Amino acid sequence: MTLVRTPIIAANWKMNGSLDSCRVWMSAWTQLGRPSSCRTVLCAPNIYLSTLAALARGTGIALGGEDVSEFSGGAYTGETSASMLLDVGAEWVIVGHSERRQLFGDTNERVAKKALAAAEAGLKTIVCVGEPLEAREAGRTENVILSQLDAVLQTVAPASLGAIAYEPVWAIGTGRTASPETAQAVHEVIRARVAESDPAAAAALPILYGGSVKPSNAAGLFAMPDIDGALVGGAALQAEDFHAIAQACPNR
Ligand code: PGA
Repeated sequence: MTLVRTPIIAANWKMNGSLDSCRVWMSAWTQLGRPSSCRTVLCAPNIYLSTLAALARGTGIALGGEDVSEFSGGAYTGETSASMLLDVGAEWVIVGHSERRQLFGDTNERVAKKALAAAEAGLKTIVCVGEPLEAREAGRTENVILSQLDAVLQTVAPASLGAIAYEPVWAIGTGRTASPETAQAVHEVIRARVAESDPAAAAALPILYGGSVKPSNAAGLFAMPDIDGALVGGAALQAEDFHAIAQACPNR
């Protein structure tokens, strides 16, 4: 039996948006209609999740946070716990985004703890991994990806992960996308590593690509056998572009 992985197209708004833009985006999204061959997720700033959850009702798009605390509650000023995200309507959360790793000091160990806290609370995680340009140029892509991935796999059972996102740092927000073949090669490495601990979970695990995905390059990426969707930053700020990317998903 061939296993079918339903593609996931996830938006990552980052620190962008306003109450007004939430309404505009959701109204456009609703008018565009439900993409037929993928699941869609909108990861947005925590402060807008309640509003977005109310606006998203009945549209089929699920909501997600962009990060989560490794702690479940208590004296951690400024943090948001997994149960708080669930409370305001999120079903998903991104952990280990390269901006969190590079700008806010999230280490492999902390990312693993965050993934565990999210999974234990019942959130579906999108765990990001990706190499900086220097690592790719030095031929160290696999080392970097596998050390990021191993930290998570040593802490969280693969079957409890929602998805992995491969996001080469040099492709994020730069307009420079990894070619479908370059991305596929890394996706294969990721799936093989997950399979070492749980072959069935590896076969079922969606592995998304992220880094300058746009309507014009999405179909080429989605044609690769191990690319099961995308994590979209800049192009997800317009509902129309995000929708066009979702429509580029093949019927698998
Ligand atoms: P980008 O961002 O699509 O703007 O490159 C992707 C991401 O950071 O998740």
